[in-house]
Amino acid sequence: MKITGKQLRQKWLDYYKSKGHVDIGAVSLIGDGSTGVMFNVAGMQPLMPYLLGKPHPAGKRLCNVQGCVRTVDIDSVGDASHFTFFEMMGNWSLGDYFKKEKTAWTFGLLTEVFGLDKDKLCTTVFEGNSAAPRDTETAELLIGLGIKPEHVYYLPKEDNWWELEGTVGTPCGPDNEWFYPIDGSKEDPVFPDDYVEIGNDVYMQYKKTETGYEPLGRGNVDTGFGFDRMLLFLNGLHDAYKTDLFASVLAKLEELSGKKYDDGGEAQRAMRIIADHTRTTVMLIGDRNGIQPSNVGAGYILRRIMRRAIRYCRKLGVPSDAMQDVAKIYIHEVYDDSYPLLAEKEAEILDEMKKETERFEATLVSGMKEFEKCLQGIARKNEFMAKSNPAYVPEKVIGGKAAFRLYDTFGFPLELTEELAAEAGLTVDRAGFEAAFKEHQEKSRALEKGQAKGGLESHSETATKYHTATHLLNAALKAVLSPDCNQKGSNINDERMRFDFNFDRAMTPEEVKAVEDLVNEKIKEDIPVVYKEMSLAEARAQNFVGVFDSKYGEVVKTYSIGEFSKEMCGGPHVEHTGVLGHFRIVKEQSSSAGIRRIKAVLE
Ligand code: ALA
Repeated sequence: MKITGKQLRQKWLDYYKSKGHVDIGAVSLIGDGSTGVMFNVAGMQPLMPYLLGKPHPAGKRLCNVQGCVRTVDIDSVGDASHFTFFEMMGNWSLGDYFKKEKTAWTFGLLTEVFGLDKDKLCTTVFEGNSAAPRDTETAELLIGLGIKPEHVYYLPKEDNWWELEGTVGTPCGPDNEWFYPIDGSKEDPVFPDDYVEIGNDVYMQYKKTETGYEPLGRGNVDTGFGFDRMLLFLNGLHDAYKTDLFASVLAKLEELSGKKYDDGGEAQRAMRIIADHTRTTVMLIGDRNGIQPSNVGAGYILRRIMRRAIRYCRKLGVPSDAMQDVAKIYIHEVYDDSYPLLAEKEAEILDEMKKETERFEATLVSGMKEFEKCLQGIARKNEFMAKSNPAYVPEKVIGGKAAFRLYDTFGFPLELTEELAAEAGLTVDRAGFEAAFKEHQEKSRALEKGQAKGGLESHSETATKYHTATHLLNAALKAVLSPDCNQKGSNINDERMRFDFNFDRAMTPEEVKAVEDLVNEKIKEDIPVVYKEMSLAEARAQNFVGVFDSKYGEVVKTYSIGEFSKEMCGGPHVEHTGVLGHFRIVKEQSSSAGIRRIKAVLE
């Protein structure tokens, strides 16, 4: 290994520190919602406000190595170059230095620190359009530094303009991209065929508007060099999983499976998928705003990634616990210096992996049987139809209802069913799946309305527990925040509870913790839940609260949990609070004006 991951990271940071930059460290991988992007996809994303003008506490020259998660190419993971998690080495000028310094520093880093041959470097600049001029300034600076004039190419916006797709009000501008021969020893490499892009310097002088671009009023520099790609390339490798980042991980998977990575084929593909997906799982759960697998939003993407890894563990012939073994290598060997938080969160990371594995494995075998049945059904139908009609075109689509059943009953993410289908040469009726999903949601909603009227038409044991937890939460909010907080809505399923209440600001982390602690205290006290019928007047006199009290008849049903919680409610509830387990608030957010929403789970 000519250069290890740890060395590369250090060289990047040391170089830019020597040019007056402050290492700001990596920020959370989970998008804060400001750009509508679920995960951090570029190093500049968390710096948006500062690129737009807000002073950064660390100054005007920043650098870091920032993790990014991109899942659009998840199906390609398994080949020699795709990842769902990767890192970007970055540095920034927040309205400080500009093209002259930046071209010289990138050039210096590549030729002096990394020893690249200046005569082989190729670089591209923006050719100009109606929004921004041709970037002759950068081109001249590059030639002045010693890059061959015939190695500087002018390219259009598609190639040499950088912006965060799908956003408005964000900084952007022309960029200068750097290329080097894939095989550094080749005598006369030809651009672009023999070249690979190693990074780019974006000159952010513009701001995206609804209709075009306007000048930003200052010049920023936004530099991004792919860490994993650079590591690969500096070591003269062609397989991104051959860098030292994956050495111990692949050795572990070889040991567990008794198969060799270098033998290629399906085993190699499975090892890559497990290595990549486990790394992303570690990073997402171990993030400072860590998430858990769930059925919505970012949590669903995490679930997909985890379940895909679990499935490939089975394909490789290793127990799913292999994910935990692999995770420990990332936590303690590979990312111990750069992501110290992972070690702190190790227990949580491993526990989530264990739980998700158990959940998925409980249904995986029966789900696979169900899937096989679908395939057989289609094959039988095709055979039958072909017999009676020679012109019959065989069906090659798995129906939306079947896909939904696999999702709902067996926990198969749609993408997993699609992947399995593709392996059998079939596709899945996505629109049909969406329709089945919607129909199911509407039924559940109708059911909830039924519940609100006081009678649970159908309820599971888990839903009953959440129902009681809702009462504890309602009482805890009144105790911690204000007696004026009232329930404004609730929604329960077997996985979580959602609770809306009136309050005019976001809760502080301390308040969230206090509410959580109070609910857990009441669970630990194992208080009996007491049911009683009484007149509405009496219930009011005894301070029972009720959300729907105008709808109640003369005699009302009440539930009290000691003196702590007293609510008019149709039930059902658990008999005593001790059975609820542990209560955890997953999220506190705005629901609408003056209404907050809490999502919580019992675990
Ligand atoms: N923002 C630029 C990129 O992501 C540096 O490539």
